[in-house]
Amino acid sequence: MIQFKNLIKRFGDRTVLKGLSLDIREGEILFILGTSGTGKSVLLKNLVGLLRPDEGEIWIDGEEVSRLSEEEYLPVRKKCGMVFQHPALFDSLTIFENVAFGLRRHYRLDEETISLKVKKALSLVHLTGIENKKPAEISYGMQKRVSLARTVALEPRILLFDEPTTGLDPVTTNAVNQLILDLSRTLKTTSLVVSHDMHCALGIADRIVVLDKGEIVALGTPDEMKKSQVPLVRDFLAEVLA
Ligand SMILES: Nc1ncnc2c1ncn2[C@@H]1O[C@H](COP(=O)(O)OP(=O)(O)OP(=O)(O)O)[C@@H](O)[C@H]1O
Ligand SMILES: [Mg+2]
Repeated sequence: MIQFKNLIKRFGDRTVLKGLSLDIREGEILFILGTSGTGKSVLLKNLVGLLRPDEGEIWIDGEEVSRLSEEEYLPVRKKCGMVFQHPALFDSLTIFENVAFGLRRHYRLDEETISLKVKKALSLVHLTGIENKKPAEISYGMQKRVSLARTVALEPRILLFDEPTTGLDPVTTNAVNQLILDLSRTLKTTSLVVSHDMHCALGIADRIVVLDKGEIVALGTPDEMKKSQVPLVRDFLAEVLA
């Protein structure tokens, strides 16, 4: 349902994605691992149209999207919910209004429906009773979950997470990972998770792709990864098996 075909992305004379091809299956959780600066965020941004590739194609549900105009891209973006690394909530708005923001912006809904959708999204991330608080009154981990709820409320079919657990303590990390798993299964979304965390990837991914300098060096199930002899994969595994 999502296909990258020979994707090339350059910034000036620097080629960040070097002819990347990848098929993502409907409903799967795909972890994208790689060292810093290897093009993981650039890949997600190309999918949601925040960046456009220089060459190659991006197919979503049978449509080549990379050359659509900004306006034509809007329905594509609605299919893809992106959870950014930092929560970036609106400080002056309550948690309720933060989650309702996208719903109000993208859809014409009555207040009752908005309220139901906000409460459902917050309960999916195990946050209830904090609707009237402001972001400053809740912890960073809770803010990250609110940002997840904000994306989930729009009911995207494709969920993109850019380092959802970076900067979280181990307990909250586990909770967020469990949440990604639950959401994917409950809402039947296709999930792409950018991460540095091989331990989480082995635990919840259907498949893992490892990028190095803008190219795929390994792709497979957690079991296949564990047996990989690719040096970078071994490096990632070393931390888990240590
Ligand atoms: N808008 C941009 N303009 C110029 N260069 C950019 C831009 N966005 C990303 N880059 C460059 O592209 C390369 C890949 O960046 P990217 O953000 O995808 O890395 P990453 O794999 O997500 O790394 P990290 O794990 O640190 O988040 C980096 O060298 C970065 O400096
Ligand atoms: Mg990144």
